[in-house]
Amino acid sequence: MYFSDTYFHNFRNLRQGRVSWSSGFNLISGPNGAGKTNFIEGLNLISGWGPIESATKISSVPAWGKGSEPKASLWARVQGEESMDLFASISVKCSLKCGEKAIGASAMRAKIPVLTFLSDGMSLIRGSASARRALLDRIGAIISPSYAMRLHDYRKALRQKTVLLRRGRETMAADRVLVQLGSWLWAAREEILKLLSSALESYAELTPCPMELLFTRGGGGTAEGPSEDFKGSLAVKKNRERDLRTPLVGPQRDDVRILCGGINAVLFLSRGQSRRAASALILAASAVVERRIGRKPILIFDELTSELDEEGRNSLVEALLKTDCQVFGASADSLDYKGVSVHRLKDGMFLEQPPVNMY
Ligand SMILES: Nc1ncnc2c1ncn2[C@@H]1O[C@H](COP(=O)(O)OP(=O)(O)OP(=O)(O)O)[C@@H](O)[C@H]1O
Ligand SMILES: [Mg+2]
Repeated sequence: MYFSDTYFHNFRNLRQGRVSWSSGFNLISGPNGAGKTNFIEGLNLISGWGPIESATKISSVPAWGKGSEPKASLWARVQGEESMDLFASISVKCSLKCGEKAIGASAMRAKIPVLTFLSDGMSLIRGSASARRALLDRIGAIISPSYAMRLHDYRKALRQKTVLLRRGRETMAADRVLVQLGSWLWAAREEILKLLSSALESYAELTPCPMELLFTRGGGGTAEGPSEDFKGSLAVKKNRERDLRTPLVGPQRDDVRILCGGINAVLFLSRGQSRRAASALILAASAVVERRIGRKPILIFDELTSELDEEGRNSLVEALLKTDCQVFGASADSLDYKGVSVHRLKDGMFLEQPPVNMY
């Protein structure tokens, strides 16, 4: 599956124009401020993943200066195993359509598997645990529709428990729900991590030494089985939860420890090496998705080449070409690689293709 054409209207600084894309590797190249990240944000939105920065208000997306009720519209044609036209209409909220039908964000994510790697992608290696949990959750949501549903229900129950703890009330009923959903999520995340670790072996050339991924259950550790562990850990931490008025056990506190040669990757890897390692993780995620759903995901990389030396750039581009996935990579550098289609972007306008009015 791949995006064959896009048309963005009133979307950030991007000017009207239909752009056709290769089913292989597309490089979006242009100076700072050209609109590369904006374009990537558009792809992320139309495929159901929302704005690329979670703190971004959706109402900031329509182009400035378009009257009191600005509205952006995005259109993308998907071809491959299935052909479909996707629409996103964005004002104070984002509504999605597939063909003529309105569709929810999670259904859209399942329809069109997309893995996005952002400029702060290094946070996978050097950032807080939430970045690593987000990667596991993205893979989970793509490979299993019930993953996203259970995660949503788990978070809802967790909010309820937090309210009860703050009010000094009994949490037994909420805990029963949390044990059931949380231990399912632990088992699912552990399984995803196993798949990720084995897929990572194919990308060893991107990192100076093989990486080891270790899953740590948030607040767990009292038993082998996820359900017993959840129950046992809750029992052990019950008083502490009551004192601190916050839940201490469960997937909201999970982490993935990354080791290189037995040493914490944050200490072991330089910044450029961390970026390579994070790219290797996304490539491994792509292999996991393909293996599990039998379809190749679309890979989107913002600031594809930043902090990479020439050898790092070459290895990454080569590895991405080898996946045979559709790739969108944004870079301020002008690069010339065989098999890569270059789309030059300047002041919000793709240069090689004159605008075609779609409306
Ligand atoms: N709602 C909006 N309407 C119009 N312009 C906007 C809007 N939101 C952001 N911009 C502008 O879009 C421009 C391009 O931003 P973007 O982050 O996409 O650039 P970029 O090509 O990724 O640059 P860099 O190489 O520095 O990462 C910014 O200069 C910003 O002022
Ligand atoms: Mg950018």
